Amino acid sequence: MLRIAIIIGSTRPGRKGEAVAKWAYEIAQKRSDAEFELVDIEDFNLPLLDEPMPPIMGQYTHNHTKRWSEKIASFDGYVFVTPEYNHATSGALKNAIDFLYAEWVNKAAGFIGYGGVSGARAVENLRLIMGELQVATVRAQVGLSMFTDFENFSVFKPAPIQEKHVHVMLDQVIAWGGALRTLREKQAQGAE
Ligand SMILES: Cc1cc2nc3c(=O)[nH]c(=O)nc-3n(C[C@H](O)[C@H](O)[C@H](O)COP(=O)(O)O)c2cc1C
Repeated sequence: MLRIAIIIGSTRPGRKGEAVAKWAYEIAQKRSDAEFELVDIEDFNLPLLDEPMPPIMGQYTHNHTKRWSEKIASFDGYVFVTPEYNHATSGALKNAIDFLYAEWVNKAAGFIGYGGVSGARAVENLRLIMGELQVATVRAQVGLSMFTDFENFSVFKPAPIQEKHVHVMLDQVIAWGGALRTLREKQAQGAE
């Protein structure tokens, strides 16, 4: 079974990201074409990147990096739930992404953004980062507006149509995640 992580991209006290990610996880749980796991970067207590070697070398010295590596390596695809901070993704999510390299390569990703313009600029920022990590990003994305998906810009109350948007995005992540898993298996056989 294909494994997809739904990653909470905010660590701020009082973050809205947790409610958004849990909502997406509940929707994903209705599907039987993949296995889903909620991954909270907060749980990994990652400091600002503190590995002496660039992650592409795969020489991790710290337990927090090894733990994060093991978790991320176990998935075929990712759904990044990202806030928009100053027209980009959060520093916490960028830092968590920067810790690893091979764990991301040849996987698929979709995005759920939220903010004043539905997190659109944060998602565009993440798409650029994913390109360097050889992550295939799907076209469909979920954009949650502070104006229409949050009551008084604060309590998360997504418009009903957003559930459909989550499914369309997941359809694409699962299709590409499966294709890329086949590619990784072929590459692993070729390397034997
Ligand atoms: C440092 C910071 C920068 C922000 N910059 C933007 C921004 O550029 N565009 C936007 O739409 N919202 C921006 N916001 C508002 C966030 O979208 C809103 O606070 C959201 O709840 C943040 O997600 P979180 O609660 O999960 O951390 C910013 C918030 C913070 C804390």
